[in-house]
Amino acid sequence: MLAKKAVKKVLALQRALPFPEGRDQPAEETLNIPQRLSALLKQDLTFRGEKTSYASHNIHAFAAKFPPQIPRTFIQELTRPGEVVLDPMSGSGTTLIEAMFAGRHGVGVDLDPLACLMASVKSSPFDLSQCARAGEQVLRDAEKQMRPTDDERLLRFYSTQSIEFFRYWFTDKITDELFALVRAISRIEEIEVRAFLKVVFSSCIITKTGALTLARDLAHSRPHRDLTREVKQSALNVFREKLINAIESLHEISESPFPSLSLRADARNLPLATNSVQLILTSPPYAANAIDYMRAHKFSLIWFGYEPKALSSLRSRYIGSEIKPSTFEVKSETGNEIINQLKKIEEGRAAVVAHYYNEMTLSLLEMLRVLAPGRAAVLVVGSSVIKGIDIKAPTVLAEIAASVGFGLVDIARREIIRDARMMPISHNSARSGIEARMHEEGVIGLIKPQQGEADAHS
Ligand SMILES: C[S@@+](CC[C@H](N)C(=O)[O-])C[C@H]1O[C@@H](n2cnc3c(N)ncnc32)[C@H](O)[C@@H]1O
Repeated sequence: MLAKKAVKKVLALQRALPFPEGRDQPAEETLNIPQRLSALLKQDLTFRGEKTSYASHNIHAFAAKFPPQIPRTFIQELTRPGEVVLDPMSGSGTTLIEAMFAGRHGVGVDLDPLACLMASVKSSPFDLSQCARAGEQVLRDAEKQMRPTDDERLLRFYSTQSIEFFRYWFTDKITDELFALVRAISRIEEIEVRAFLKVVFSSCIITKTGALTLARDLAHSRPHRDLTREVKQSALNVFREKLINAIESLHEISESPFPSLSLRADARNLPLATNSVQLILTSPPYAANAIDYMRAHKFSLIWFGYEPKALSSLRSRYIGSEIKPSTFEVKSETGNEIINQLKKIEEGRAAVVAHYYNEMTLSLLEMLRVLAPGRAAVLVVGSSVIKGIDIKAPTVLAEIAASVGFGLVDIARREIIRDARMMPISHNSARSGIEARMHEEGVIGLIKPQQGEADAHS
């Protein structure tokens, strides 16, 4: 039902655009996409020293988001005002916010419910005085309703598994406060304002330090319970602070005439028409679950009523999850060499990497389908070192993209400024985790050939 509604919204948005499919479009020469893309990839894309936390970008913590300067630069150079920019793995919504600022229509797709929620809130113009009033009402309501929450009370809203989760990861006092807050938010009638307040609520829990939880380093690595941890803060006070910050951060976008669209869908099966977007800009997940979004996001999602079991099964559908199918063949020569090397060390890891590349192949095929001919796709890709072997993700994904029909313009390298990219502090050993390669990533520039060029190559 929701998906159908979303597709309708996208189709309406595409119809409303200045250059929908099939209508007279200005000649592509006026933009000269290949030349511009090639020049952009030669630039320094590090953006050292530039501010990344302006406007709504920092409302909620999110691991491995890219600096906003990346989407901004490519959007401005490779699209015209009013065109559609797609991020098929949109995460916290960085591309959508920048599309909005540039006067383009941003469309974001992500499988993760919390990512979609924050991307949508961060890129929607709001009536901020209404948000402020609703936030104050939530705080008053929560204070009034607050009392020790026994399991019987929680059972009216949550399953036993969810309650076990709360009891394991939160102190009783914080459970009482979060329960009062989340119930008060659920009583807010206006859907968009409720979504905004849910993002504020979640931003109190998912922080770098995970201060309201008994977890260590929630936003950046695998949570471990730390019973020595003293949770001193009040969830209500944290909510108040985050509410004020969020309202201030949303000020800059409250007037935008270009709200973006955020869809919960799969990058391997996009709910978008063929040839309907003018630029794709994305940063896919790392291989082998190097950043496990669900592991942190469930700390909020379970409060919103998602079942722990349902979240685990959703997690297994994320690109990069550690599934080990029996196929080892991928659409890249470099990829096959790497997988054969890995197979000699540990077959299971080789299968996980092959799975990642094959899932990305499906997603690249979808990108090729929805992109308008002659237009660009830009992928910002980090590699991983698995069992001591660099899996060369930028090179392999570029080869796969070429094998499915994209024209490869170039692969640029950019240094990762750790603070700006919010990378995990550590998670595996330096030899077999993402740590060893995290100082650099690749920016792959691709073009969808015009119809005639594609026929000539096939
Ligand atoms: C590296 S993050 C993107 C970060 C984003 N560029 C930002 O600035 O916030 C990769 C995203 O891919 C999403 N993802 C994983 N599998 C997916 C799939 N099959 N379809 C759509 N999104 C997926 C993850 O949920 C995650 O949000």
